[in-house]
Amino acid sequence: MSHPFPPVLIEKLKTAQRVAVLTGAGVSAESGVPTFREAQTGLWAQYDPQELATPRAFRQNPKLVWEWYAWRRQLAAKAEPNPGHLALAEMGKRVPHFTLITQNVDGLHPRAGSRHVVALHGDITRTKCFADGRPVAVWPETDQIPPRCPRCDGLLRPDVVWFGEGLPPDALGTAVSAARSCDLFFSIGTSALVQPAASLPIEALNSGAFVVEINLNETPLTPHIHLLLKGASGVILPKLIQAVWA
Ligand code: APR
Repeated sequence: MSHPFPPVLIEKLKTAQRVAVLTGAGVSAESGVPTFREAQTGLWAQYDPQELATPRAFRQNPKLVWEWYAWRRQLAAKAEPNPGHLALAEMGKRVPHFTLITQNVDGLHPRAGSRHVVALHGDITRTKCFADGRPVAVWPETDQIPPRCPRCDGLLRPDVVWFGEGLPPDALGTAVSAARSCDLFFSIGTSALVQPAASLPIEALNSGAFVVEINLNETPLTPHIHLLLKGASGVILPKLIQAVWA
């Protein structure tokens, strides 16, 4: 069967020992998870997400920020992995050394079957203490919003990375070494604007990897890479898997 992919990509993916993939909100768009940069709906339409996702916002109005994340958590829980997530889980089974790095906090990659996902920006289903940053799995039932840490009585917050905060060092270290050591790097559904994630494809390029972008649009990364596959990740990725491993 013929396919629209350049033969060089098929060959590289077939023979690559090490593949690293960076995903962003675009990969979950086809599952109906809203990105930060698109308009919010309903009750939340009046708020700018980039103003809510900060430690400052939480200090000023912890209840508002907690409730916004409760809403986003509910949206993520209702969403289903789409064919793009499933194709990446499949790729992970085929490539000898595969690292899936995501900026998404929605948990859809693991739910699609991807293992050892490097969650650069945390995970919306997890909670931690705002005071000491340690994870909190359970807390006494309460009407207080946000609930309090059972250890130190600090406020609880989602275990995600807010604007102005550092990334989890282990996740970032794994991501950087995967980018530096891979043969093939995919940047998928990300605007390639938010650092340090945006530097990962550049690290891969500087280390000699073949770098491919899958996006509906061009991004600031596009001029630097080897190949742009323009279109929806949920359409392109399953076709790519089919073309390489059918
Ligand atoms: N297939 C492929 N690409 C898509 C699709 C799709 N179906 N839908 C949207 N896109 C692309 C858009 O063209 C855009 O380039 O996905 C990108 C989404 O960009 P952002 O919303 O900026 O998401 P992301 O890059 O993940 O944002 C990075 O910033 O908002 C913070 O912490 C948050 O993790 C997030 C980080």
